[in-house]
Amino acid sequence: MTRKLIVGNWKMNGSLAANQDLLHAVNAGLAGVACQVALCVPAPYLAQAQMVSSGGGLLIGAQDVSAHAEGAFTGEVSAAMLRDFGVRFAIVGHSERRQYHAETDTDVATKAQRALAAGITPIVCVGETLAQREAGQTHSVVKRQLAAVIHTNGHCISEIVVAYEPVWAIGTGKTATPAQAQEVHALLRSQLAAATDHPERIALLYGGSMNPANAASLLAQTDIDGGLIGGASLKAVDFLAIVAATAH
Ligand code: 13P
Repeated sequence: MTRKLIVGNWKMNGSLAANQDLLHAVNAGLAGVACQVALCVPAPYLAQAQMVSSGGGLLIGAQDVSAHAEGAFTGEVSAAMLRDFGVRFAIVGHSERRQYHAETDTDVATKAQRALAAGITPIVCVGETLAQREAGQTHSVVKRQLAAVIHTNGHCISEIVVAYEPVWAIGTGKTATPAQAQEVHALLRSQLAAATDHPERIALLYGGSMNPANAASLLAQTDIDGGLIGGASLKAVDFLAIVAATAH
């Protein structure tokens, strides 16, 4: 991995007016930045994000994608539709979708497959809950979650991005220590190495209360290639400070 990747996940936040300022500020702040930067916005705002970012360095992503190609699936958005709007990334298997929408490992693997087939890079989220960490199950949980995606996507696996997001660190202000995050990232990298000759090409992002104060130390870890940022991606100054931390 030569180039760091910083991705914002706005989750279900924003409005046309507020987005306009945020998108312009982020886009303007990316001049001369060496890393890749993307924002995953709510689906209704994809067109707005695409318009503001066009010609700039900002890439656009979605927060989910349907496991189905097309048809009678009310409320779903297909990978091909996302592609129509210039979407480059789609988050799949975020813990909020696993938790509130009962997404299974198999669903997540299929969604990753749909994204890849449409030329969209899936950002596959894995991570353990606090109870699982305390029970010593962190490794087995993340390995099981990633294994499903590897199994379904085989030779395309070097095209994905993986985000390690410990559930207990999301939106809580509790961040994994750099050592805790690196330990899991190294495990994921070795799991990927068994599936592809080029595991170093796969960006491994850390997510969970990443902010301007802790970003540099997390991003300095050997196997942390970038970040998936929730709350801090809603403020241009904070998000750009994290982007700037990739240069340290
Ligand atoms: P926070 O940065 O708000 O903890 O959210 C992380 C996350 O879930 C990104 O997908």
